[in-house]
Amino acid sequence: MTANTESLNKPEALRSLKWEENALLMLDQRLLPEETVFLRLTTPEQVWEGIRELKVRGAPAIGISAAYGVVLGVLQFAGNTRELAAEAIKQAEYLATSRPTAVNLFWALDRMKARATALAAEGASTSEAIDALLEEAKRIHSEDEETNRLIGEHALTLFEDGMGVLTHCNAGGLATSKYGTALAPFYLALEEGIRLKVFADETRPVLQGARLTAFELQQAGVDVTLICDNMAGHVMSKGWVQAVIVGTDRVAANGDVANKIGTYGVAVLAKAHNIPFYVACPLSTIDLSTPTGDDIPIEERHPDEVSRGFGKRTAPEGVAIYNPAFDVTPNELVTAIITEKGIVRAPYSDSLKKLFSAE
Ligand code: MRU
Repeated sequence: MTANTESLNKPEALRSLKWEENALLMLDQRLLPEETVFLRLTTPEQVWEGIRELKVRGAPAIGISAAYGVVLGVLQFAGNTRELAAEAIKQAEYLATSRPTAVNLFWALDRMKARATALAAEGASTSEAIDALLEEAKRIHSEDEETNRLIGEHALTLFEDGMGVLTHCNAGGLATSKYGTALAPFYLALEEGIRLKVFADETRPVLQGARLTAFELQQAGVDVTLICDNMAGHVMSKGWVQAVIVGTDRVAANGDVANKIGTYGVAVLAKAHNIPFYVACPLSTIDLSTPTGDDIPIEERHPDEVSRGFGKRTAPEGVAIYNPAFDVTPNELVTAIITEKGIVRAPYSDSLKKLFSAE
């Protein structure tokens, strides 16, 4: 299903998602950095497709989108509240099939399902329940912004003026409601006059680092240098990188971290150069019900992303292609995990659990 498009050339266009007049405005990230186009989505199917096709991407942003997708599925609902709750749950289960790895998607949908169930139990009217579900989606959206700012404040304590910091993929404002997770400290550093030199890996095959991270940091005035993925080791060997920070799509109970393909290689390189490797994420990305990284479902995407990602064919027709979208960095390579509740270190099976018991 195609959605209406609307070009908005406003300064706030960098926000990946907006709710406006009973529709979800989704920035089509596939078109960046060349075009800033917001899609006006009015059905759960359009939201599902938006997530699946990477129009929106990044763990928190897909969770927020899906929450609004549930609202779109019940906005015109005419039955009673029990039937509305059943419909909301059905839509949530459908939206959960859009992508498998980022646990924020399931976390946000579980929140919407729980709210719908509670509203039915409370005997709310249908229109009260629709309003309340929209409020819940908006809360998921606005809480993410507050959370990211806190992550940024904690992360910034690990950095000093003049440091070089390398990041992989895009865990910035575009992947979230604002600030991002791994990129949040760069925005706060800018506010506080702390000079950091950021190296952004281009992030093959979809180039989230080149198209999105380099773009949003450059727009904000952060000192960013784009490098190809295969240059990270060289840049580290030059002594230009004092820390690595990345986001994540799911942290297992033992501290193994799934993130964009290539992250594991960066972590190995960081270890070889004695550089700390930090992971920044909200608690909603930590999944204590997934014991280890081996249990995290890794999405495989279409071979065309590798062989003809941006139009031109870059590999022979018919060649075998393996295209996993994520990899797992084992916990022993992770120096610390930075959350809105603070910074935790190994042993992660204890420290991650404590984050939740302190909630
Ligand atoms: O395939 P993508 O672009 O959705 O992958 C995104 C990432 O791997 C991000 O690093 C991760 O979601 C963290 S976003 C704050």
